[in-house]
Amino acid sequence: MKSNIPAHVAIIMDGNGRWAEARGLKKFQGHDAGMKAMKEIVKRSSVLGVKHLTVYAFSTENWKRSEDEVSGILKLLMIYVESELAELNTNNVKVDVLGDYTAANKNVVKSLDKLTSKTKDNTGLQFHIAFNYGSRAEIVRAASKLADEVKSGVLNSSDITDEVVSDQLWTSDIPDPDLIIRPGGEIRLSNFLLWQSAYAELIFSEVLWPDYTPEEYDRAIEEYGKRKRRFGGR
Ligand code: IPE
Ligand code: IPE
Ligand code: MG
Repeated sequence: MKSNIPAHVAIIMDGNGRWAEARGLKKFQGHDAGMKAMKEIVKRSSVLGVKHLTVYAFSTENWKRSEDEVSGILKLLMIYVESELAELNTNNVKVDVLGDYTAANKNVVKSLDKLTSKTKDNTGLQFHIAFNYGSRAEIVRAASKLADEVKSGVLNSSDITDEVVSDQLWTSDIPDPDLIIRPGGEIRLSNFLLWQSAYAELIFSEVLWPDYTPEEYDRAIEEYGKRKRRFGGR
């Protein structure tokens, strides 16, 4: 096992559409291939000893896409739960969802509830699926909750600290990401973990997500291991 493994890796799984387009395939097939890549990276994360893996699966902005594409992604998510639940349990993986997934249809909600409840006692890799996740919505929600607490008198505005804000985010129980990887060629965060990424190391890759292999992942982890993190100090 390598040394200097990041405790928390977060991945923006981007490039499914372009992957499909380059092959004359439908978007759905690109997302399906992306799911396969994700399964391999989950397995590799356990093997490497990563404690937390967060994947950006669907953003608060992705609802702008065609109904056909969105329903395809939701369908794939439900297929994933049915086909992977047993193996996730075998591998001791605990799954939860970051984002208000109750905004999706009933079947998706049921499926995600099943995934989280049936894996909740696992003690290995913690796998966080960011679904209907957006950092701005997350921060707005936190601000609103804190405003309510101040209004009702349970919190003084002068007691609001980094920790108090962090505690109101979807990621309240999760350490900040050490490494954020974005395959797919775009150099941006697209509303992903904006608060939490304050001191994250960033790695961008031209490889489209469906082509992202465990070997590519290993190389990113190795590059992370060479980075010098200072957190503002000397
Ligand atoms: C990422 O792939 C998956 C989601 C956003 C749900 P894209 O579908 O964004 O792929 P590109 O960027 O169009 O290639
Ligand atoms: C980010 O990818 C969201 C996910 C990977 C789920 P997008 O494809 O939505 O991001 P933009 O539109 O290129 O910024
Ligand atoms: Mg994209």
